[in-house]
Amino acid sequence: MISKKTIQDVQDRVDIEDIVSDVVTLKRKGSGKYLWACCPFHDEKTPSFSVTPDRGIYKCFGCGKAGDSINFVMDHDGLNYVEAIRHLATRYGIEIIEDEQTDSQLEEQNERDSLYIILNYAKDYFQDQLLNSDEGKSIGGSYFSERGFTKQTIEKFELGYSVDAWDGFLKEALANAYNEDILEKAGLIVRKEGDKKYDRFRGRVIFPIHNVTGKVVAFGARTLKKDDKPKYLNSPESDVYHKGKILYGLYQAKNAIRQEDNCFLVEGYTDVISLHQSDVENVVSSSGTSLTEEQIKQISRFSQNITVLFDGDAAGIRASLRGIDMILEAGMNVRVVVFPEGDDPDSYSRKLGTSAFKAYLSDNVVDFISFKTGLYAEESAKDPLKKAQSIKEIVSTIAKIPDGIKRAIYIKESSKLLEMDESVLVAELNKILISERRKGDKKRIEESTGEQMLEELIGEQEVKEIDQNGLIKIQERESIRLLINYGFNEIEEEYKLSDYLLEELEEVEFVTPVYLEIFEIFKKKLAGGEVIDSDYLLANGSKEIKNEVIGLMTERWEISPNWKEKYHIHIPHENELLETVVFTNVARLKFRVIQKLISENLVKMKSAKDASEQERLFMIHSELKKSEIELAKVLGIVVSR
Ligand code: GTP
Ligand code: MN
Repeated sequence: MISKKTIQDVQDRVDIEDIVSDVVTLKRKGSGKYLWACCPFHDEKTPSFSVTPDRGIYKCFGCGKAGDSINFVMDHDGLNYVEAIRHLATRYGIEIIEDEQTDSQLEEQNERDSLYIILNYAKDYFQDQLLNSDEGKSIGGSYFSERGFTKQTIEKFELGYSVDAWDGFLKEALANAYNEDILEKAGLIVRKEGDKKYDRFRGRVIFPIHNVTGKVVAFGARTLKKDDKPKYLNSPESDVYHKGKILYGLYQAKNAIRQEDNCFLVEGYTDVISLHQSDVENVVSSSGTSLTEEQIKQISRFSQNITVLFDGDAAGIRASLRGIDMILEAGMNVRVVVFPEGDDPDSYSRKLGTSAFKAYLSDNVVDFISFKTGLYAEESAKDPLKKAQSIKEIVSTIAKIPDGIKRAIYIKESSKLLEMDESVLVAELNKILISERRKGDKKRIEESTGEQMLEELIGEQEVKEIDQNGLIKIQERESIRLLINYGFNEIEEEYKLSDYLLEELEEVEFVTPVYLEIFEIFKKKLAGGEVIDSDYLLANGSKEIKNEVIGLMTERWEISPNWKEKYHIHIPHENELLETVVFTNVARLKFRVIQKLISENLVKMKSAKDASEQERLFMIHSELKKSEIELAKVLGIVVSR
C-alpha cells in the first residue's frame, strides 16, 4: 500500500500543465485562464481540449473526457490508480513510502526497482554496442539494414546488439558495480554450478520489451546464424516480467490504438516494427505465445476492436482460432486479415510498400465469425462427414459472444454460409448455452430459439423503460434549472452556459411536457438573439411553468463531496463549478436518452419483417451502444456491452 502521505505529496506536486504537455502542445488563447490543445483522446483538427491550471483539471469539449492529473495519466497510459501514483511519484522524484510495509515487502520493492535499473542499463549497453562497436555496426547494423529497418525505427524501438562473446556484458556490468545476483534475476546472465557464469545473449540482435509505461522489462534476442536454436531467445520470467501480461509494442502503439479505435494483433517482433515503418502504428504482438486474458484486457483499455493479422499458412491459423474466441468472450469485436501463403505482415508490408499495404488491410478485413465459418464451410463441403464437427466448432464460438442479439445475427449468417437450417444451429447453440449455465454461470441465457432469445432481451429492456423516462426527467429538470439560474453565466470566456446547453441539446427531444415547453421557449428566444431568464418565464409563462420555475429557483444546490475530494480544492459556490456541473448534466441526459433509444430500437428489431431489416436495425443498435459506452466512460458508469 502506498502511504497517504505519498499520495498527498504527489497530488500537491503534480502540475496538470506539465503532465499534459508531455503529450500535446498547450496554447493559451488571449489572456484566458484556459490552455488549449487538440484532444489526445480523440481525433480532431481544431482544439477542444482544455486545461485549467489553477484548478488542476482538464476537459475535452469534444469527447467529454475530463479529470485531474492522476485521471489523465490513468486514462492516457492505461494505468490503474496505484500505478498512476507510482508513475507520477517517479516523474517528480517523490519518494514512494509504503504503509506498514514489512521488511520483505520493502525488499521486494527494492528488488523490482533494481531490476528496472539493471534492465535499463542493459538496454543502453546493447544499444551502444549496436551503434558504436565494430562488431555491432558490421554484424548487427547490417542485419537490420538488410531487413529494411531505418535509423529512426532502431531508435524508436531501442534495438540493440549483443556481442558474440561469453562475458561482454557481464564484465561491463560488474565493472559498473552491479551485482551478480541481480544480473541473474534479471535474466541477463546464466549461472551454473560451480562458479560458471556467462551472458545469456550472445551474438544476437536485441529487441527490448517495454511495459505499458515504457520501462524495459525483458529482451527478445534473435540469432543471426542459420540453424542456430532457438531463433528467438527471450528473457526468463522475473518479478517485473510476466510473459502473459506483456504485449510487445503496446507502449509504442497505445496512442495510435486509441486514435484509430482498433488494434492490429500480429505474431512477431519484426511484424510490429515493419508495420510501424508502413505507417501503421496501432499494432502489438503476443510474441509467438498464445494470447492471454490479461493481454486482451490491456488492449481493451485503449480500444474494443482487435484485428488479427494471420500469416498465410493454414496450420498457423488453426492454432490461433481458439485464442481468438477469448477476445469474443471479453465482448470485444474481432476481425481478421489473412496474408497470402508464405508471407507474414513483415514481409508483405515490405513487398507492397506503404500505401498498397494499407489498402490491402482495408480491402481484406473480414469479420471473425464469418471468417471462421467460411473456413469450416470449405472443409465440410469437401468432406460431409466433418460437417457435424464444423457446426459444433462454429456454434461454440458464437456462444462465446455475450450479446444475445449479436449471437442471433451470427446464427443467421452462418446458416447461410453452411447451407444448414437455422433451427439446427439454434438447437446446437442452446445446448451449449444451457450446459454453460449448468456449469454455474448465473447469467440468464436463453433456452430454446433465437426468436425467444431476442424476446427475452427486449423484455428486460421494457422493464427498464419505465424508469427510463423517470431518469430522463431528472436530468431534464436539472438542465432547465441550470438554464434558469445560470443561463447568463460564462462557463468560458464569452461562452454562456445557455449557449452551451442549447447547442449540446439541440438534437435531444425532451420527454417531460413542461420541461419541453420551457426549453422550446429558450430556443425560440435564443434564435432571435435573446437570452431569457426566470423573470421572463415568471412574467410570461403558463401557471404550470411558473410553479416549476419557482421550485427550480429556490432549490439549494449541494456540492458533491466527491468533487471536493477529487480535486482537493475548496469550492464555495456552485457558480464556480458550473462548467463541470453543466457538462455532467449534458452527458447524463444524453446517456439516458441513448438508453431509451436502444430500448425502442430493440422493440423495432423484434418486429422486423426480414433479416436485412433486422440487420439494419442491428447496425443502429451497435452505433447506439457505442455512444452509450462512450458516455458511460465519461460518467464513470459501467454498462453491459
Ligand atoms: P523473423 O524470422 O526474424 O522474420 O521473425 P518472425 O517474427 O517472422 O518469426 P516467426 O514468425 O518465426 O515467429 C513469430 C514470433 O514467435 C517471433 O517474433 C518470436 O516472438 C516468437 N518466436 C519465434 N521463434 C522462437 C523461438 O525459437 N523461441 C521463442 N521463445 N520464441 C520464438
Ligand atoms: Mn518473418
